Amino acid sequence: MRIGLLGFGTVGKGVYELVSRREDMEVAAVLCRRELELEGVRVTHDFTDILEDASIDTVVEAIGGVHPAYEYVRAAILAGKNVATSNKALMAHCYDDLVPLAAEKGVLLRCTASVGGGIGWLSELERVRRVETVTQVGGIMNGTCNYILDSMTRLGLDYGDALRQAQDLGYAEADPSTDVDGIDTWHKLIVSANIAFGASLDMDTVPVSGIRGISGEDVENFRNHGFVCKLVSHAQRGADGVHAWVQPTLYPVGQPEAAVPMNYNLITLVGDVSGRQSFFGQGAGRYPTAYNVVQDCVDFTRGRGYYAPCGEKLRASNDAKLPWYVRGDCPFAVKERWGSGAVTQPVSVADMHRWLKETPGAFAAAIAL
Ligand code: HSE
Repeated sequence: MRIGLLGFGTVGKGVYELVSRREDMEVAAVLCRRELELEGVRVTHDFTDILEDASIDTVVEAIGGVHPAYEYVRAAILAGKNVATSNKALMAHCYDDLVPLAAEKGVLLRCTASVGGGIGWLSELERVRRVETVTQVGGIMNGTCNYILDSMTRLGLDYGDALRQAQDLGYAEADPSTDVDGIDTWHKLIVSANIAFGASLDMDTVPVSGIRGISGEDVENFRNHGFVCKLVSHAQRGADGVHAWVQPTLYPVGQPEAAVPMNYNLITLVGDVSGRQSFFGQGAGRYPTAYNVVQDCVDFTRGRGYYAPCGEKLRASNDAKLPWYVRGDCPFAVKERWGSGAVTQPVSVADMHRWLKETPGAFAAAIAL
């Protein structure tokens, strides 16, 4: 296998290092904006050099973001090259374009590292589908948010200090919006749900709220009532349609989610035969992520391509009613007070997300019972 590697940042460099140890594949060319010298490897600023090199059979995309990654991946597929990517934004936004295109062209396309980093979550999801119907996927998919929430819960830090610590450790970006506003988790949920259900979930019907508004006082209120807050995703398919969302959720102490430490992920599926299966591990970082990109390349040598057919378009209905912890001027019927916060009677996901959008500075977390 001769690889054209797009990007030489955290993931790209990790892929280069892992591939360099192997006999069955080599990095033939690297697309990189900065000056770089790698022995025996062509380094280029021009993607056409990789696209037009017929000796390169596989493209590894590690640039991130939707553009120009989409244009590069699409062109690679059209040129008959297999593609492995770690890019969740690309796969969430362009799934129903790229997956059918790869199938039509007979090209292999995998993205295992895009959700769960070093956890073999998507490849296991693919195996689960061979034997049973997956009815539910979701969980803790963002290491940065888990690190912030865990530091607030265990060390009593306030949000700002926990975020700064996550930035110092290289988990959170200088602009942390994609992580703390739930966008990264949203992308990962869409990719997971598409594979789990063999469908294409309409992203715009999946509401997202993040952890930006949480305060130390909220965390104290949760602790006093035996709960821990986590940012989680959820997609469920049943007779009453699809329910899907990303939102802070309170778990009773003793539940597996409540115990997930630091920057780890815990991702769960429910199958109609095997029941609940959960996957715990490092959801980010150079080597865990590069590991799953290389696993995808090894799968290419065995003819394993895209994970599931991209079937019908699904829309999430957000009418499920849940109890919530709310801080702010709560317009919903209140069941009890938790310090400065209120616990509501069941409120639909749609109504709560609408209120959050209209109320700057408000915070709400669903209560998992
Ligand atoms: N920012 C992501 C996280 C990186 O914190 O989980 C891995 O996708």
